[in-house]
Amino acid sequence: MRLVLLGAPASGKGTQAAVLCDTLGVPKISTGDMLRAALAAGTALGKEAEKFMSAGALVPDSVVIGLVDERIALPDCAKGFILDGFPRTVPQADALAAVLAKKSTPLDAVVQIDVPRELLMERATLRRTDKRTGQIYHLKYNPPPREAELEHRADDREETVTKRLDQYDAMTAALLPHYTALGLLRRVDGVGTPQEITGRIKHALGRE
Ligand code: AP5
Repeated sequence: MRLVLLGAPASGKGTQAAVLCDTLGVPKISTGDMLRAALAAGTALGKEAEKFMSAGALVPDSVVIGLVDERIALPDCAKGFILDGFPRTVPQADALAAVLAKKSTPLDAVVQIDVPRELLMERATLRRTDKRTGQIYHLKYNPPPREAELEHRADDREETVTKRLDQYDAMTAALLPHYTALGLLRRVDGVGTPQEITGRIKHALGRE
């Protein structure tokens, strides 16, 4: 299964990818996590990316396309993958299609998790992540255990979230007609419990 999870910032892509990668037996590839790991490691790429991320802007296509090309060439992607947060622009989608076409392994589906904008701000600003395990929590909807070592993402402050949401509407929403035209898009209502949304995604994929 080669799957793309599409959705606005804080729509629940990472939460769903973590569950689905176990169910489907394929790795989760999150460009946001890869960029944050590069930043934490102090690499030149991480420092460059941070300028864009902290401003709520997209990292240049050439950077993220290179990261994903390398990642999906690794052996653990032979049976498939779940892409979380990539592609985000039409050029990224075209680059991905070209790489997959060379291997005759096209995408199976693109699932859009649809959440109204008014819910996204609360989901983002109250998100916390355990820095040891990477587990995603929410202070209201999925409170962390006492022992968690919580991190608050720098780009989850309200004014940066607003910029990220605007960026999604301006750039990434263009992927919806793109993947509809290719017959790949499945839209899933992202309002409900995480378990309900997992069920809807499995139903959309015919994997119940
Ligand atoms: P990235 O890390 O990909 O951020 P994002 O797409 O903005 O998505 P998020 O991680 O914010 O949210 P999510 O949809 O995964 O939601 P989550 O499951 O955590 O990218 C960060 C930055 O990196 C970008 O701004 C950009 O600069 C750069 N970047 C990354 N990829 C790039 C690319 N391809 N091109 C260019 N630049 C790129 O859930 C959110 C919260 O809601 C959590 O607290 C969770 O517990 C809670 N929650 C989840 N589901 C539910 C539910 N059903 N009900 C209630 N709460 C819920």
